[in-house]
Amino acid sequence: MTNIAIAEKNLTQRGFLDLEVDPTLDLFEEIERLKKEKNAIILAHYYQEAEIQDIADYIGDSLGLSQQAAKTDADIIVFAGVHFMAETAKMLSPSKKVLLPDLNAGCSLADSCPPHLFRKFKEKYPDHVVVSYINCTAELKTLTDVCCTSTNAVQIIESIPEDKGIIFAPDINLGRYLVKKTGRDMVLWNGSCMVHEIFSGEKITKLMLRHPEAKFIAHPECEAHILDKADYIGSTSGLLKYTQENEATEFIVATESGILHQMQKASPHKTFYPAPPNNTCACNECPHMRLNTLEKLYLCMKHELPEIELPEWVIEQGVPSIDRMLAVSAKAGL
Ligand code: 13P
Ligand code: SF4
Repeated sequence: MTNIAIAEKNLTQRGFLDLEVDPTLDLFEEIERLKKEKNAIILAHYYQEAEIQDIADYIGDSLGLSQQAAKTDADIIVFAGVHFMAETAKMLSPSKKVLLPDLNAGCSLADSCPPHLFRKFKEKYPDHVVVSYINCTAELKTLTDVCCTSTNAVQIIESIPEDKGIIFAPDINLGRYLVKKTGRDMVLWNGSCMVHEIFSGEKITKLMLRHPEAKFIAHPECEAHILDKADYIGSTSGLLKYTQENEATEFIVATESGILHQMQKASPHKTFYPAPPNNTCACNECPHMRLNTLEKLYLCMKHELPEIELPEWVIEQGVPSIDRMLAVSAKAGL
């Protein structure tokens, strides 16, 4: 194989460039055609750009996406989200082809907990149960007893016998929130999400003063000083539901701004303000989530690349932690 051919193969394995798409194509039509032709399903997280959300078969939070991945009868799962989410889908449906439009769509939170270091950390607490936020690598899941998402985290912690010690990884902010909420003492790994750590308490207070009727709502991945100001704390689906059910007509939203698309769609007469970050950039857009574009989604479906591949041992040893999470969630009616 020539150097150029090798470079092209690597490019298609990692992802595609938007430029490769014929600009005259109607991508919505093409993607719909490919979905039918290949019996593919598009699962999208709320943090994806609006166009991707609009073409998805299912849009949801991390728990909903895992539940869909576990039960779909499609042959191909196209995951419009980040790497750990697509890995989770592959673990739950190992016989299916799982595609991610851009393999570089990682996660700062998952990266903040390298498995080889976590293994050593875990050795210090041999009797503890390991609860990992689903925002972690597949390999970390092999070192985990039970996963959780922000929707079911309280129920997962409460399902662990009270005399058992708990290690919680990798998100220290969610961990601290859970310690407060459940009263359980937990050993916390010091990881965090770059998007949820960027909010400015001072600027949020100013925005609240300018919009005194607005409810301030926040994702539990935010730091404690931000959560302390919140009228409501919840996962993406929890935040969305709150804006639909609450009678307020203005909301200041501290999470990735992609969710505002669904909030606005569900409540067109309400006003949503993204919580301001502590500098002038659009930092409440996740740079990993936003690597996926409609063009890359189309190319990935056309070429069935890049594909998620996991070693068998990772699937075997990692999947019980996700299955336990799904069982506790089902029991709790989530
Ligand atoms: P949820 O959608 O489960 O609330 O998770 C948010 C998130 O950070 C995903 O990366
Ligand atoms: Fe990871 Fe944060 Fe991006 Fe979610 S928003 S994918 S936790 S970096």
